Amino acid sequence: MKFKDQHIISMRDFSREMIDHILSAAEVMEPIARGEQRSDLLAGKILAVLFFEPSTRTRMSFETAMYRLGGDVLNLGSVDASSISKGETLADTIRIVDGYADAIVLRHPKEGAAQLASEFSRVPILNAGDGAGHHPTQTLLDLYTIKRESHLEDLKIALAGDLKYGRTVHSLCYALSLYGAQITLISPKELCMPEEIVNDIVERGAEIIETDSVEDAINDVDVLYMTRIQKERFPDPAEYHKVANRLKITTESLKDVKPGLKIMHPLPRVNEIDPKVDATLHACYFRQAFYGVPIRMALLGLLMGAIQ
Ligand code: CP
Repeated sequence: MKFKDQHIISMRDFSREMIDHILSAAEVMEPIARGEQRSDLLAGKILAVLFFEPSTRTRMSFETAMYRLGGDVLNLGSVDASSISKGETLADTIRIVDGYADAIVLRHPKEGAAQLASEFSRVPILNAGDGAGHHPTQTLLDLYTIKRESHLEDLKIALAGDLKYGRTVHSLCYALSLYGAQITLISPKELCMPEEIVNDIVERGAEIIETDSVEDAINDVDVLYMTRIQKERFPDPAEYHKVANRLKITTESLKDVKPGLKIMHPLPRVNEIDPKVDATLHACYFRQAFYGVPIRMALLGLLMGAIQ
């Protein structure tokens, strides 16, 4: 298995063997991610961070991962303060930044932007979200969370919310299909999972159930993965207001669920999970956000050739 110098663009490019290898490497990284052990594994290496859309978790956990491993971070910062505001293309920006860094993390509003960047870059591109497309490093941390908090074998999982525009659920479906998961898709009909993704994942071995009711679907699952309605991706704000607040989890919704049910969310949440749920044993979304650090440490170590 060769990870060194590879681009990370889509979960479609991963085999189960590759995913399991990354999850095992992340386990080794976890004490370093928690600050319990020190490491200079990436000393002398530089990670460039280019975010054309807002982020808290993805950007900061990549930066933490790099610092925890003794490396450095070069952050483009605000797009408005860079030469992109003068009209520089993404291709040219990448051709410049790849001379300054050993890998580039890119978040961009256009689907396909990370693939395009990879065609111009001499160093690995890590797709940190391309429009409604993919978010593969989020999926790896989601799988790590499921492995740590529940189980990946014989998994019954419900994905709820904006399945049309939510890139985290698109990527996660592809990965879960490799584990033969039973996946229940819960969304208003206006926001259902694109048909081509459903067809692809059924072909890859997943069992799919589709519904628009959270209450009907969550009592039999091991994991409930909630998502935010992606307001910023709606061409018409009126369409957003029709579906906003349609799906919401409260402590009342959880009265008949399995005792071991884990609730995940890539965050940020808006109001799809009532804050009272945070105090239940089901909530694991804040730990999920932390798991982004060991996963991204493992990925950076593998891509930069510091571990195998
Ligand atoms: N989960 C996630 O991608 O969060 P951010 O948008 O804060 O990076």
